[in-house]
Amino acid sequence: MIKDRIVSPPLPPTPPEDPVRLVRDWLADAVERAGLRHPNAFSLATADRRGRPSVRMVLLKDLSLPHGYAVFHTNYRSRKGAELDSRADAAAVLHWDRLGRQIRLEGPAVRCPDEESDAYFATRSWQSRLNAWASDQSHPLDDPAELAERARRKAKEFNLPDPAGAVSPAESADAALGRPHFWGGYRLWFMAVEFWTEGSDRFHDRVRYERTLAPAGEFSFTAGPWSWQRLQP
Ligand SMILES: Cc1cc2nc3c(=O)[nH]c(=O)nc-3n(C[C@H](O)[C@H](O)[C@H](O)COP(=O)(O)O)c2cc1C
Repeated sequence: MIKDRIVSPPLPPTPPEDPVRLVRDWLADAVERAGLRHPNAFSLATADRRGRPSVRMVLLKDLSLPHGYAVFHTNYRSRKGAELDSRADAAAVLHWDRLGRQIRLEGPAVRCPDEESDAYFATRSWQSRLNAWASDQSHPLDDPAELAERARRKAKEFNLPDPAGAVSPAESADAALGRPHFWGGYRLWFMAVEFWTEGSDRFHDRVRYERTLAPAGEFSFTAGPWSWQRLQP
């Protein structure tokens, strides 16, 4: 069943100085009102060495204020992981149809510090953690049964019960199921953020923010001030 459209207020004539807070507010609105299973889902575009793009959905798990980056988690050896490792430039879109809103994000995506990935990984169920070990994401699979077999083998290795059964693991075995080194988070740092609200008769409202980012270590950037510009629909 198609749910009713919720009319969102237009962007103010002078938009706020900090777009990251607005991203946070729109996300909170989406969680509350968009009626979606995954209001935090976004499409993530990466490119290979030759600049050929690829895109897929991922989940936004954390938004850093005031730094302005979004965190998602994945397999570092997946296609997106390999592409980001060779070229950090990424772009993303969050879209909430029911709210008539879209946010576009652009900037470099760099790996999270290990401790942060460890901490997030530890919040997942033991089956999800086990499956992260079992899946060589984006690599060929001849037979789906192979995947279940790999999960079973990994479970044995970690002294865990058969993942197909209903038995919970012993606390010590559960705690020992740490993060694989090939799995973790990325921080997508915002160099550009664009807000779009649906207007009538295709007169939509768009505001694009930009700032500079200078590398400051492995995981971080030093950001310049934001500037903004309204764009034609
Ligand atoms: C709503 C939704 C959310 C998803 N979230 C994630 C995610 O957070 N991390 C992830 O690795 N894959 C996620 N996936 C699966 C990816 O879209 C994709 O199939 C997978 O990561 C492999 O992509 P790649 O081969 O381009 O690396 C999600 C898929 C959907 C439909």
